[in-house]
Amino acid sequence: MIAKVPTVKLSSGYEMPTIGLGTYARNAEQGQVQKAVEWGIEAGYRHVDTAMIYRNEEQVGEGIANKIKQGLVIRDDLFVTTKLWNDKHAEADVLPALEQSLSKLKLTYVDLYLIHWPVSVDQNDEDTGIDYIETWRGMENVVKLGLARSIGVSNFNKEQLDRLLTAAQIKPAVCQFEISPTLTQHDLVDYCKKLSIAPVAYTPLGLLSDARPEFSGKDLIKTDPKLGELSQKYGKSRAQIALRYLIQRGITVIPKSFTKSRIEDNLNLFDFELSRKDMNLVDSYNLNLRCVPALGMSNLKNFPF
Ligand SMILES: NC(=O)c1ccc[n+]([C@@H]2O[C@H](COP(=O)([O-])OP(=O)(O)OC[C@H]3O[C@@H](n4cnc5c(N)ncnc54)[C@H](OP(=O)(O)O)[C@@H]3O)[C@@H](O)[C@H]2O)c1
Repeated sequence: MIAKVPTVKLSSGYEMPTIGLGTYARNAEQGQVQKAVEWGIEAGYRHVDTAMIYRNEEQVGEGIANKIKQGLVIRDDLFVTTKLWNDKHAEADVLPALEQSLSKLKLTYVDLYLIHWPVSVDQNDEDTGIDYIETWRGMENVVKLGLARSIGVSNFNKEQLDRLLTAAQIKPAVCQFEISPTLTQHDLVDYCKKLSIAPVAYTPLGLLSDARPEFSGKDLIKTDPKLGELSQKYGKSRAQIALRYLIQRGITVIPKSFTKSRIEDNLNLFDFELSRKDMNLVDSYNLNLRCVPALGMSNLKNFPF
C-alpha cells in the first residue's frame, strides 16, 4: 500500500511533502541512485533531494523520467530539490548553474532551489567572499523566470537568515540543515518557524558510528538500548522512531537509503504517534554533535558554524 505523506505549506504557496528521499553518498555505485529514486517513487515518496555537488542529478533525473514514462506519477506530483554549489555564487552564475542542473535532471523547473552553503569559493576552492545577498538576487531571478517554484537556503545560521530576510524580495521558503536526535537544534528550528521558514532536516538519523568510528558505542540508531525499548513499544524500527520524532516537531526529513527495504520503512511514519514523554526521551539523546562539521570550509568568510 502506498503511504499517504502529509505536506507543509511553504511561504511561496507551494506544498512540500514532509518526507523526501536523500540521495547523497560518497561512494555510490553506478546506477544505485537511479534505482533508489525508482524504489522511492514506487514506495510513495514524492519528494527527492539532490544537489549539483552530489554529481548524481542525471541518475535522479533518469529515475524520475522512468517512473513518469511508466505512468506511475506525473511531474506535478513530485517535489524535486537541488542546490547551487559554492563556486556559482556570483549573481550572473546562478541561472546557468540551474539550467545545467535542470538539463541533467531532465526537468523544466525544480520545486526548490537552495543555496547549498553561505560560503563562496572559486574553481580552486579559494575564498571569493561573495555576499550571499548578491547570490540571492540570482535566486530570485530564477523564480521570476519560472525555473524554480520556491527558493531557500541550507546551512545558514540565525544571523545569516536575519540578514537575508532584510534584503530579500522573495523570502526563503526553506532552510535545510543538520537536525537529528543527536543534534536537536531547538534554537534554530524555533527561529525558522518564527520567520515562516520551513526547517528541513538533513542527516536526520544522526550519529551512525559507521561514519564516525570514534563515537562507536554512542551510535543512537544501532546500539542505544532505550531506543530499542521505544522501538519495541511502538512496533517500529529505531530509524522510524528517530524520524517520527522530527516529524512531530514539525520538521521535514530527507533520510537517505539505497536499500529497498529501508527506503520503504523510512516512509512508514504516519500511523503512530510518540507520547510527550517519549518525545522527551528521544530529545535527551542530544549530543550537540555535528556529523557534517564541514571543517574544510571553516576558514572561509561566512562559515556558518
Ligand atoms: N544540505 C546539506 O549540506 C546536506 C548535507 C548532508 C546531507 N544532505 C542531504 O540529506 C540526506 C540525508 O542525510 P545523510 O545521507 O547524511 O544521512 P541519513 O539519511 O541520516 O543517514 C543515511 C545512512 O543511514 C542508513 N539508513 C537509512 N535508513 C536506515 C534505516 N531505516 N535503518 C538503518 N540505517 C538506515 C543509510 O544506509 P543505506 O543506504 O545502506 O540503507 C545511510 O548509511 C543526504 O542524502 C542529502 O540528500 C544535505
